[in-house]
Amino acid sequence: MRTPIIAGNWKMNNTIAATKALVTELIPLVKDAKAEVVICTPYTDLATAVELTKGTNIKVGAENVHWAEKGAFTGEISADMLVELGVTYVIIGHSERRQYFGETDQTVNARVKAALAKGLKPIICVGETLEEREGGKVAEVLVRQTTEAFKDVAEAELQNIVVAYEPVWAIGTGKTATAEVANDTIKIIRDTIAKLYSKKTAEEIVRIQYGGSMNPKNVKELMAMPEIDGGLIGGASLKAPDFSLVVNY
Ligand code: 13P
Repeated sequence: MRTPIIAGNWKMNNTIAATKALVTELIPLVKDAKAEVVICTPYTDLATAVELTKGTNIKVGAENVHWAEKGAFTGEISADMLVELGVTYVIIGHSERRQYFGETDQTVNARVKAALAKGLKPIICVGETLEEREGGKVAEVLVRQTTEAFKDVAEAELQNIVVAYEPVWAIGTGKTATAEVANDTIKIIRDTIAKLYSKKTAEEIVRIQYGGSMNPKNVKELMAMPEIDGGLIGGASLKAPDFSLVVNY
């Protein structure tokens, strides 16, 4: 019903030269994947990644997009600029952006709407910190982040949106959420979307990934869970053999 989607988030890694090597190695390794395959790269690598993946089953995503069409926003990149490059997906609201660059639920929502308006597919990241989990605030935080991210987004757009549940405490730490915790938490997000829109859309259309130290060793167990529709992969997406093992779980 919901096609699995495995996306790499390269973060601030890989020069153009490294991109050429990694993508060239990756293409044959993932060509028979049953999951949709995406690599999200730094802006400077996008053109190279798009060019190299033409005619393959790999789609390319960016790691952020600005909410304005254009103008005086030094250092920012617009949706039009990404579309022109041939980019398909864009990560929005990653916890590293929320943590280090002042991203808020409101700016996430503004970016989501700007991306959709230009035909880009947002991968919206939500997730709680360790403090929030230990304080019993998981549901509160996820309901808020999800509700704000989808504000003024039409139900018909939901087929173009992917959500990534990334518990902040599991990112780059080697600590994965157990499959049960990931599944139960993603259920909270899906139920929130069902309340905002409809149960049918939430259950049939919206794909929700897990992200946070997903790797070749734990991917099978996570992907076996009914609520988990894919993964957003950081560290393990930087080596073609590892990423292909996740993709071909
Ligand atoms: P790691 O897979 O390195 O934990 O990163 C997860 C992540 O943040 C993907 O967006």
